[in-house]
Amino acid sequence: MVKGQQWQGICDLARMAQVGETLGATLGAGAVVLLSGDLGAGKTTLTQAIARGLGVPDPVVSPTFVLLNEYGGGRLPLYHFDLYRLDGAGVQSLNPALYWEGIEVPPGLVVIEWAERLGDELPGAFLHITVAIAPTGTDHRTVAIAPTGSVPGWQAVGDRLPLG
Ligand SMILES: Nc1ncnc2c1ncn2[C@@H]1O[C@H](COP(=O)(O)OP(=O)(O)OP(=O)(O)O)[C@@H](O)[C@H]1O
Ligand SMILES: [Mg+2]
Repeated sequence: MVKGQQWQGICDLARMAQVGETLGATLGAGAVVLLSGDLGAGKTTLTQAIARGLGVPDPVVSPTFVLLNEYGGGRLPLYHFDLYRLDGAGVQSLNPALYWEGIEVPPGLVVIEWAERLGDELPGAFLHITVAIAPTGTDHRTVAIAPTGSVPGWQAVGDRLPLG
């Protein structure tokens, strides 16, 4: 993969697991993953693989009704947001910046589903991952990972991901 560049691939479930586990095993504290994609695209599935890569022992569930789930017990804490039901004011009151700044909580990996809802409240650096159903089959997804700024561990992830 070209330095600092984006990664793209078509992933069946096994490859989606591999991509997520590589992210979870390799990204550094303070890395933020913003997930975009339609309902059922695979955002939670990818987050579950990230959690496995981190070594989180508990099952990761869809946080749709809780907005934020925190998982300890892995290499780093995982902060898993789902903003689907929130508007701008709701996002502000949830204050996701507290988590990616890692000031009042231990720094970890922040993964945010429906990240579009963040509006302008973005971290300085993040990976934007877009998941969409691929034309090649119902169990295939196109996955595009684009870095903005300096994301801890992204360079090493890029070296470990298979070519798209
Ligand atoms: N290649 C694949 N990658 C990811 N998920 C897949 C793939 N193939 C099939 N699936 C299935 O698609 C579904 C994806 O659901 P998931 O909950 O991860 O989506 P989501 O993007 O989080 O949806 P929501 O917006 O409702 O939170 C799962 O049932 C999963 O097993
Ligand atoms: Mg989901």
